Amino acid sequence: MPIHTDLATLKWDRLDAVLEAASQAALRTIAPQVLDRGVDLVALSAGATLDAGFLSSLLTAAQASGARIWVPSGAIGALDVVRAARVGEVKSITLTTTKPPVALADAPWVVDQGIDLSSIDSRQAIFSGGPVDAVRGFPQNVNVAALLTLAADDPDRLRVTVVADPDAPGNVHEVEALGSFGTMRLRLENRPSETNPKTSALAAQSVIALLRQLGSPLRFG
Ligand SMILES: NC(=O)c1ccc[n+]([C@@H]2O[C@H](COP(=O)([O-])OP(=O)(O)OC[C@H]3O[C@@H](n4cnc5c(N)ncnc54)[C@H](O)[C@@H]3O)[C@@H](O)[C@H]2O)c1
Repeated sequence: MPIHTDLATLKWDRLDAVLEAASQAALRTIAPQVLDRGVDLVALSAGATLDAGFLSSLLTAAQASGARIWVPSGAIGALDVVRAARVGEVKSITLTTTKPPVALADAPWVVDQGIDLSSIDSRQAIFSGGPVDAVRGFPQNVNVAALLTLAADDPDRLRVTVVADPDAPGNVHEVEALGSFGTMRLRLENRPSETNPKTSALAAQSVIALLRQLGSPLRFG
């Protein structure tokens, strides 16, 4: 397979889709070029969609050209339940992210609030708020919050809590949705990727799973 380092050299008429798995900045650069040509876009840097103006420009470009935008479920799950829940009445959607205190050390919220992580010797909530403030305070949580915001279709419906826990088994995401459908609780303990320890193994696997779905006559979820 040829390697292209420049979008201009791609054989656009032979492409089924372009997959972005690089950065929000890369997504912002390539997305308009891909969508304007009517080619489907798979975007892993979901955090960029928290910028309502950018998301709206993507949707406008896709609608104009007939291209579609696919956002893999990445490092989280339960998006299908949240998406279906909003068809009925939704009471609340919450994301609780629990990390060992050391993993929160450089977060802007921790620094700005002067939180002394070394004094935390048992599970303690250190932040509660909406996804936009959560992402500002904890940028490493950006993709998970963005995916749930997309699924909830409204940033005001999602509440985010960040917990520091010395006994946490790594990075844990818990999603709870309450609504007319009933109750959903998901607890995810993500393992790091063997080849890229700062990323969850599940994130890369979710991209491959999505590409398999796109090539299959059977779609579900
Ligand atoms: N949706 C999710 O749950 C989820 C989970 C993990 C990562 N991500 C996102 O996916 C993206 C990639 O994550 P990662 O952990 O693999 O990052 P990474 O930094 O380990 O790897 C990114 C790679 O892309 C390359 N790159 C960056 N900008 C580029 C550009 N403009 N053109 C070509 N190559 C470029 C870098 O050189 C690097 O090799 C990030 O934006 C990350 O936030 C999303």
